[in-house]
Amino acid sequence: MEDTLKHLKDITNKLSDLPTLPTVVSQITQLMQNPRTSAAEVGEAITTDQSLTSKTLKLVNSAFYGFPGRIKTITHAIVILGFTTVKNIVLTASILNVIGKTGKSKEFDQEAFWLHSVSTGAIAKVLAELYKHKISEEAFIGGLLHDLGKVIINHCVVDLFEEVLIYRDKHNCLLKDAEKGVLKVTHQEIGSWVAERWKLPSNLTAVIQYHHNPELAGDYKEITGLVHLADIFARALGSGSGGDNSIPIVSETIWNDMNFNSIDLPKFLERAEDEITKASIFLQAI
Ligand SMILES: [Fe+2]
Ligand SMILES: [Fe+2]
Repeated sequence: MEDTLKHLKDITNKLSDLPTLPTVVSQITQLMQNPRTSAAEVGEAITTDQSLTSKTLKLVNSAFYGFPGRIKTITHAIVILGFTTVKNIVLTASILNVIGKTGKSKEFDQEAFWLHSVSTGAIAKVLAELYKHKISEEAFIGGLLHDLGKVIINHCVVDLFEEVLIYRDKHNCLLKDAEKGVLKVTHQEIGSWVAERWKLPSNLTAVIQYHHNPELAGDYKEITGLVHLADIFARALGSGSGGDNSIPIVSETIWNDMNFNSIDLPKFLERAEDEITKASIFLQAI
């Protein structure tokens, strides 16, 4: 018990040293709350951050968004893709920039981890489109960032994270069960603490908090369920690695709700692989 309290104290103390997101992220969120804000105003706010601007332009000009090489300025991107999409891209690029390379343990394959994350995002997007949910963009970002907590543990308390990895190897278990064994909390809770601190949108926070038990996600059960399934499919496809070799159990509620048996599996897998290839551009934002 004493150990648990000490661990939690260590973790929460270290979380306060976490980098913050660039101010431009909260600026554009604020600007977008005013319906009279113009594309030029949002464009101007984003372009004050040069590295974010070039990353955003690289992403909007990729095959993932369907206008390869044709968008020259942020304002132009807003006109073509809309405010929300550009805001989502800026938010995602900022988060990847802040945490993408911060993992410290040499025992954890970060490249494989981010491929797992991008693959989960791409598959969640395909699932959302398949089920005609109008949340494919959010599903992608949710998938991309669902395991945020793992990066945070690896950054903030690397010595404890390495204990988690030893526990995982000894018990041949999922990383989340090893976290529970060592830290008494998992990357779901730790990720959601950071998501709240960064004031991320509530659907994204729910995905981070409940992707292993989506039936608890309340109003966000739909998006969390999509990411839950996508995480499992990404593992089954062997696309990257979430940090363990096991495949978690599928939530029965979600499986039944989605009636997945009616899906044309070969066609789904083909689309998923195609989308993973397109989404790999996000690996360059890290
Ligand atoms: Fe996870
Ligand atoms: Fe995962």
